[in-house]
Order: sequence, then C-alpha cells, then structure tokens
Amino acid sequence: MTSFRPVEGGLATSEQDVFTAFTAIAEVRGRRVLEIGGCLPREIVQRAEPAAWISLDPRNPDLGNDPNFRSLRGNAQLVPFPDESFDFVFSSNAFHHISALDSALFEMRRVLRPGGLVFANFGPIWSAPDGSHVEDVTFGGCSYNFWEQRFIPDWYHLVYSCRELYDILITALGGGLAQALVEYVYLSSWINRLEFDDYERLLHRSGLEVETFEGTSTVDYVSPLPPYNNPLQWKVDQWMSRKGQRLERYRYRDLKLVLRRRGTARLTARR
Ligand SMILES: C[S@@+](CC[C@H](N)C(=O)[O-])C[C@H]1O[C@@H](n2cnc3c(N)ncnc32)[C@H](O)[C@@H]1O
Repeated sequence: MTSFRPVEGGLATSEQDVFTAFTAIAEVRGRRVLEIGGCLPREIVQRAEPAAWISLDPRNPDLGNDPNFRSLRGNAQLVPFPDESFDFVFSSNAFHHISALDSALFEMRRVLRPGGLVFANFGPIWSAPDGSHVEDVTFGGCSYNFWEQRFIPDWYHLVYSCRELYDILITALGGGLAQALVEYVYLSSWINRLEFDDYERLLHRSGLEVETFEGTSTVDYVSPLPPYNNPLQWKVDQWMSRKGQRLERYRYRDLKLVLRRRGTARLTARR
C-alpha cells in the first residue's frame, strides 16, 4: 500500500474545487461516475462529459427521469447498482460522515469496474484538533458552525467526557448552548468518529489499491475561543505528552484518497 504523505494546504474545500481536482487526474469523458454524499449540479458535472453521473446520499431526493443523470436517496453501504457498473466513484466532504465506512468501501469496490478509481477528499476527521466538527448545531434560533465560530478547543472532544466538557463550556456559555454543543459532539450521528489510524486500517483492509493517501494539518479559518475557565486543562496536557511522536497523527485534519480496484484493464488517468 502507498504510504501516507503529509501535504500543505486545504484539501476538503468546496465541492467544486474537489470536482476540479478529480477531473484533473481522471479522464471522465464517456465514463460512468457514482457520486457518494452530495449531489453536484448537472451543469457542473456535464462540463466533464461523463456518460453517466449518479449521486447517492440519504438526504438526496429521488430526482430525474434521465437514467444517466440522477439524484438518488440511498446509502453508500448499500449501493443500488449491480457489480462493476461504474468507472469512477467521486466523493466530496462525505467520508467522515459515513458510518460503517468499511461496508461503504466494500460497496464502492463492488460497483467499480476493474481498473476503476475512488476519489475522495474529506475532513476534518474526528481525531483532528477540531474533529468535534460542530456543524449546523442549532440553539436559540441560531445555527453554529466550527469554521465561523469556534467553541471546542483542540482535542477536548477526545480527552473529556460529556459531563466534563459541559462543565467547561458553561464557564463561558449559557447552559442551553453548552448542552446542545456537547450532545452534538458526543451523540449526533452526523460524524462517524473514525480516527486517522482507523482510516489507515480500513484502507489496508478495503481490497482496493491505495494510489494516493494524503493529509493536511492546515487550518484554513481563524476563530477565537470563548474565555473558558478550565481546571482540568492538565488532562489535555497529559494526553498530549502521552501521545509523544504519535501526536502528529492527531494533527491531520483533511484527507485525500485515490483508490483503485485492481484489474488488468487500468482506466486511463490524466497525468
Ligand atoms: C458535508 S456534506 C457534503 C456535501 C457535498 N458533497 C459537499 O462537498 O458540499 C456530507 C454528505 O454526506 C452524506 N452522507 C452521510 N452518510 C452517508 C452515507 N451513508 N451514504 C452516502 N452519503 C452519506 C450526508 O447526507 C451529506 O449530504
């Protein structure tokens, strides 16, 4: 397996940027593409002239009469297509939301033709400093996102229990908002809570050839934290020093994967 390569800069950027990165390495013209997690607008995907672009997401409506350009409601763990029916799987900012990712990778391998590729950019993953990934947490008529307003300091979600984190947050926030944030971080099903080591292990076991496994520690937003009073700060300090050199693995936020289904027919990728 190709080993992990740290890189600089943002990877899990907008879906259009991820699409541009995908079409820069993949010759999509005349090929069948399965999009996992999302639904890129048809006018964008048609720029690459695929033969088919099917978007699968549990939040997608079942839309479209054209069998080759459709939005489908469904899950990556149970792809409603026969074996070897796609040349590419494309996914933008979704893998860290997919539970049972091992089953999803199995399905991606199944529906890919031999030589076909999976292309995925996503993050921040759960083990990252901001892997608590507060997104669309609503309270008091407001919606909160980590890239606009930061509430959870680096790695607090990995170190503290639900109660401990709540007790820290209420030193600077109202109890209702603290509760909404803590419930989201520990209990919501929106994030899969896989750590960097889990992804590495899943890739090993996926049966897919790993052509690219890259990650970045770059944080592409700036946001001050509320002035918490945390008598348990020593727990974080101790956790970090226990990690030693492995702390590096907890800094990777966004990952980029290119995975190939082995086969004699190797699909042409752009060089
Ligand atoms: C952050 S959104 C990304 C949407 C879009 N691709 C983008 O880049 O903006 C993550 C998407 O993954 C989807 N998702 C979560 N679990 C999934 C699953 N099991 N199968 C397919 N999609 C899933 C969510 O419903 C959500 O639409």
